[in-house]
This record gives sequence, C-alpha cells and structure tokens, in this order.
Amino acid sequence: MSADDLKRAAAARALELVEPGMRLGLGTGSTAAHFVDLLGESVAKGLDVICVPTSEATRAQAERLGIRLTTLEETPRLDLTIDGADEVDHELRLIKGGGGALLREKIVAAASERMVVIADKSKLVECLGRFPLPVEVVRFGLASTRLHIKDQAEDAGCFGDITQRMNRDGSPFVTDNGNFILDCAFVEILEPEILSDALGVIPGVVEHGLFLGLADMAFLAAAGGVEVIGPLDEDED
Ligand code: 5RP
Repeated sequence: MSADDLKRAAAARALELVEPGMRLGLGTGSTAAHFVDLLGESVAKGLDVICVPTSEATRAQAERLGIRLTTLEETPRLDLTIDGADEVDHELRLIKGGGGALLREKIVAAASERMVVIADKSKLVECLGRFPLPVEVVRFGLASTRLHIKDQAEDAGCFGDITQRMNRDGSPFVTDNGNFILDCAFVEILEPEILSDALGVIPGVVEHGLFLGLADMAFLAAAGGVEVIGPLDEDED
C-alpha cells in the first residue's frame, strides 16, 4: 500500500462517523484532502452536511466538490472536525501546522464537540518534537519574538534551531491570516503542556502547533489495517 493509500484508508474510516445533518470542520493537508474528496462523493449522492474549512485551500476544494460551507460566525459550534496531523502521541497530543493552517485548525477544533485525527501510522510517536513545531507569529517584531520564543522554550527544556518558513522561491511563507511561521526544531518536547503555556504568553505569537486536549480519537492507517487511538479502543478487535 502506498502512503497515499494509507491516508485514504484513514479518511474512509473517519467518513463512517459522519451522519446526515452534521456540522463538520474540514482539516487541511494531504490526508484531510482525501477526507474532503470522500465527503464530496457522499454529498453528490445526497448526504446533507454543512462544513467550516480550516484553510483557503480546503475551502476551494470543498467548493469544487459542491460541499455546503458555512463560517464560525454563522455556525459557532460544530459536531465533528476531521483533520490530519504531523505527529500524534499515545495521549492524543498533536503537532500540527506542517501546512501552515494551525491557527484556523485550532480554532475549528476547539469549536467542535469532537476532533478526530486521520493519518498514516508513521505519524505516531513516543515523544513529540521530531517534526519541527510550527509557531505562527505576526510580522511586526519578528526577530524579537523569535528570541523570546527561544528563551521561553529553553526554560521549558526545549533547545533547537528556530527558522522562518520560506517558500521554494525564497520568499517568506505567509499564512491565510497574513502571518509568518517559525519552525522550531526541538527534536524532543518532553513536557508539551509546559511548552504550550510558555509559548502562549509571548507577545507576537498568534498560535502554536501543539494541540493538547483537543483530539478525541485518531485513525492511524498501516498496511495491516486502521488502528484506533481513543474512546473507540474497546470497540476495536
Ligand atoms: C496543516 C496540518 C496538516 O494536518 C498536517 O501538516 C498533516 O498534513 P498531511 O496530511 O499532508 O501529512 O496541520 O496545517
């Protein structure tokens, strides 16, 4: 099975959770894109759901597929969000933001009754941090904010290079919200809660990619099948 087949398998499993009339959050990234494709097929067959996308890319994809969209202004509470992740640990703590959509992804996840992660099993880690932690920052004061992040992270026991995300053409990567991303190569984040609190109080930091206490379940696809982490554990044989 290719990596793409695994992503689609996880997405297909998540589609089973979708019920008519649900208000859904739609994630961002290649795995979430499989979910949106599959959802589009169900909508074409008559499934009625209403969705909030977590990025302009997902919005465009959903619009192409004829999926009914809304906003958090119109629909501030959602039933279920399905999204990918860059890393998942056994406590369902996540690193997200590899696609740069972490701010909207976190707002949408927080607005949802349930958040379900879909990924191939390579995203499951013993300790978060090998994937560089994305931190969304405002443009003003970038160098000061970067130093502040470094100091706070070191106090939280996290050391490593902090680099600004760039596009292939050398221009700065800009999020859908007009901000920059700093990628923090901490390698091991032994105490994610402490780091999360420390980053959260830095002026200039808009949001960071540690998703703690947000995910309720993960579908992780491997060659042998889709593994479930979370409340459905007991139901799976
Ligand atoms: C985007 C994200 C994605 O969910 C994450 O990067 C995983 O993407 P992919 O499914 O392509 O591996 O957080 O901001």
